[in-house]
Formats: sequence, C-alpha cells, structure tokens
Amino acid sequence: MVETIEWKPEGVVMIDQTRLPREFSYVTCTSYQEVAEAIRSMVIRGAPAIGVAAAMGVALGMQQPNASMDTICDDLAGTRPTAVNLFWAIDRMKRLYASLDGKPAAEIRAALVAEAQKIKLEDIAVNQAMGRHGAELIPDGKTVLTHCNAGALATAGYGTALGVIRAAVEAGKKIDVFADETRPFLQGARLTAWELQQDNIPTTIITDNMAGYFMRQGRIGCVVVGADRIAANGDVANKVGTYSVAVLAKENNVPFYVAAPISTLDLTLTSGDQIPIEQRSPREVTEVFGVPVAPEGIAVQNPAFDVTPSRYVTAIITEKGIARAPYEGSLRDLAG
Ligand code: MRU
Repeated sequence: MVETIEWKPEGVVMIDQTRLPREFSYVTCTSYQEVAEAIRSMVIRGAPAIGVAAAMGVALGMQQPNASMDTICDDLAGTRPTAVNLFWAIDRMKRLYASLDGKPAAEIRAALVAEAQKIKLEDIAVNQAMGRHGAELIPDGKTVLTHCNAGALATAGYGTALGVIRAAVEAGKKIDVFADETRPFLQGARLTAWELQQDNIPTTIITDNMAGYFMRQGRIGCVVVGADRIAANGDVANKVGTYSVAVLAKENNVPFYVAAPISTLDLTLTSGDQIPIEQRSPREVTEVFGVPVAPEGIAVQNPAFDVTPSRYVTAIITEKGIARAPYEGSLRDLAG
C-alpha cells in the first residue's frame, strides 16, 4: 500500500500527485506554508488526505519560531473550501491545543505531532472498516464504475471508494473497475488507474462522457464514489461530474453508492446547496500538462466539485455502517 503522507524528522513528506503516473516522487515540506501550498496546488488531494496534511501542517507550523496557532490554522483553512475534512482536522488540532493551555511549550509541540499522527492512523482504520461494510454491497462478477480518485492516494491509506473495491476483492469477489478519466485534473486516468494497477485489480479507463454508453449496455454493476462533504439531508459534494454519473445510474437502474468517513459529514448544513464549491484556475481546462488545448483568451468555467442530490444516492457507506434514505435520520444515527 502506498504511503501518501508521512511525518518524518526532516518534515512532512508526501507523494507528489501532480507528477503521477509519469514520475513517482516525494515532496518534503519543511514549513506549514509549504504544506498549505502543497494542498492548494494538489500535490496532495482527496478529502481525508488533505485533512491529515492540514493536521501535520499545524503540528509542523507550531515547531517554527514565533508560531501563532491562529495564523497557521487560518492559512491552512484558506487552501481549499469544499472538503470538510480539512476543517474537521484543523478544529481537532485547535481543541487539543486549547486543552493544553499552560503546559510547557515542548510538551504542546510533541502532543500536536502525536495528534496529527493519530489522525493519520485512524483514517486508515476507518477506511478498512468502511471497506468491510461496503464490500457486501458490491455485486460479484460485475464491473464497478468510479469517478475521480477516492483511493489510498486520497486518504492516509486504503481509500474510501477504492477501499470498498479493495475489500470486495479481498473477500474473493471477481470484479473489475471502470475508472472515469475525470477531466480536467485527470485523477481517474492518472491516479485511480495507477493505484489499481499497482494492486493488480483489473481496470479500464473511460472518458467521462462514456459512462452512459456503458450503463445502457448493462456493463456496469454499480457505481462507488467518494465524497468531499455530505449535508444532513444526504446531498453529496464530490468531484465535478459525479452528479452526471448519478443521474445516469438512476436512469439505468444501477446502484449509486457513496463511501465516506463520518468526518466528511457536515450536519450543520441542511442541504447540499450550502456547500461551498471551489472554482479553480481556467488553465486546468485550457491546458493539458502545459500544452494548450483551447484558443487563447476563451472564457472558461472550472468548478472543482458538484452536488449530487440525495435522491440519486442508493446508500452512504461509512465506517460505522451503511446509511439509507431518509438520510436526515440515518446519518445522524451513525454520527452519534
Ligand atoms: O480535487 P480533489 O482531487 O481533491 O477531489 C477529490 C474528490 O473529489 C474525491 O472523490 C473525494 O475527496 C473523496 S477522497 C477519499
């Protein structure tokens, strides 16, 4: 299993996901500002992974001279707006810091590092639990369609949607995966395909606009995707294009599953309409690896996420069990 992010004596070390699959290399962040930049530029991405990165960023920042907890947390929170795991992890670090008020500085610094490490290890365990619950839903002998990358690379390890797929394979199910390419950042073609190939899970890349073709042919047994934020009513924000896949799935009677940890729930929001959607640089759309694929000066829209209304979601798989509609009650019960 790949180690997405690690706390090391030399700094926070992460796989550079912008270079995969052409090159497997690591980036070492020696300041919290570098961690923030790595999150912003998507060297590390995926909701749980950026939560772990932010926690380690807080711990790293507090080792720097003249550190201000508020400034560090504000800077890290300003990197990406949609995935709630980022804010969840920062809040957890803030709560620990507040509880250590009056303790010696060295003790506080060590406790923050330990907490960030704990968040990372918990994430792997949570994904494995999610996998155990979700594996039962995956039909044997069928093709599973996924969108974006909700795998080991998007988490501290094992993955959410890909964790469910891994667990189904480990349980002996014969499945293969269709990975949506996931324009514009190509997380499906670059990261999901790479990750599943490492694990010898049979994988086929399709471009995003091919999903309907294959569903109509009866080729897709179910869809499993991750999430960046889930509102109290079960509306799901995930990588842009997820909504289209969900509508196609309903039209073709294909179950549409979302796998996400409890830390991705935002029960303060009554519906997905309240989820902030990140707008990214037009260059991600007009250029592919620096090569222009559109005329200079053309207007571009680049929302990084969309919201899938809960009526399209067959079930939400969490580490605590599976939630089904009506989600207001089932999600609250699982969140406890
Ligand atoms: O922009 P990204 O690559 O950070 O978006 C990632 C996704 O949308 C994932 O599906 C989501 O974060 C879940 S990752 C387990």
